[in-house]
Amino acid sequence: MGMNLKNYSSNRAMKFTESVIREMTRICLKHKGVNLAQGFPDFPAPAEIKEAALRAIQADLNQYAITWGAPNLRQAIAEKFSWYNGVAIDPEREITVCCGSTEAMISSLLAIVNSGEEVIVFEPFYENYGPDTILCDAKPRFITLHEPDWYFDEEELTQAFNNKTKAIIINTPNNPTGKVFSLEELQFIANLCLKWGVIAVTDEIYEHILYDGAKHISMASLPGMRDQTISINSISKTYSLTGWRVGWAIASESLTAAIRKVHDFLTVGSPHPLQEAAATALRIDRSYYNTLAKDYEERRDFLSRVLEDAGFRIYRPRGAYYIMTDVGHFGISDDVAFAFHLVEKFGVATVPGSSFYSRSSLGATKVRFCFPKKRETLEQAAEKLRNFKAKR
Ligand SMILES: Cc1ncc(COP(=O)(O)O)c(C=O)c1O
Repeated sequence: MGMNLKNYSSNRAMKFTESVIREMTRICLKHKGVNLAQGFPDFPAPAEIKEAALRAIQADLNQYAITWGAPNLRQAIAEKFSWYNGVAIDPEREITVCCGSTEAMISSLLAIVNSGEEVIVFEPFYENYGPDTILCDAKPRFITLHEPDWYFDEEELTQAFNNKTKAIIINTPNNPTGKVFSLEELQFIANLCLKWGVIAVTDEIYEHILYDGAKHISMASLPGMRDQTISINSISKTYSLTGWRVGWAIASESLTAAIRKVHDFLTVGSPHPLQEAAATALRIDRSYYNTLAKDYEERRDFLSRVLEDAGFRIYRPRGAYYIMTDVGHFGISDDVAFAFHLVEKFGVATVPGSSFYSRSSLGATKVRFCFPKKRETLEQAAEKLRNFKAKR
């Protein structure tokens, strides 16, 4: 009998499972379904950014960039962070360009967290944060965001901070809930960070995808938080370029020095020609962001109507491009069974709610839909969901 996988895998790797989201994508392909599981756009990226990438390759910017990022891109990041988020930063000392915000997050956590230290995570959470804390041997402390508007209990959060707390991860606008943290909420969190000397690690990749007049606020712009925040972002969502793998972490000089070391030995760097094109993206005409938000608002409204017509209970998002729904009343045993039922029988892939929670019971009646899709893709999904309604 051969050795099974367990004999070779590290204890670390055995502590988490394969990504459920990317598994749903594979199942969807098998059933030739409409993929409303994994959050990537199926429409083209802006032409001027693609042309910039072609030019960069032709100009032979094809070797390693400086490990912490091409100067042109770091300059563009600093300019944009200043006008949009209201914080001036030094592109020489306070930015690390990484392979997407995914690498920026894990490099940042590995750079600051010691074994056994605690990291506070709001749940439901973007699924990477679970394995991220395991990979840096941190102890995650989960704080529930309560529906319908995904508020947190201030007392519960206050109790979670202690001498072992190293960081708190904040994702706003939020995946999967669509919550946009308010100034009051961020100020409350900031006060706790300042009191306990805790680093706020913020994932702001949906900062331009906002609805109903919601405003994005960067934690780093709050008094006293500039040097106690690691602000993470990428070109993936704002410019529909999830496959390019260009993201970054913005932090004080001393935090950045640690992040740069981890990043260098993990990946050396993000693709050089795509970094050059990312600089073009960040300098795009500012009207682009209004159009982006407006287009997404139309998609949100369309899918919301379709889901409600099909009998789903929805939590209306104020930002990002997902809709959390409640499916408990459909009478299928749990969220995983429901997601499989929907993709296998009706050809619509979603993500089971439990994959966003540390305690799966909290997500047992929920599934998440995403909508960064062409109108025709959403129409196809609508057709399939009408079929679901008819056969229920
Ligand atoms: C909250 C959040 N953070 C990070 C990512 C991954 O981003 P990137 O492509 O920049 O690694 C995603 C992708 O869905 C996300 O939803």
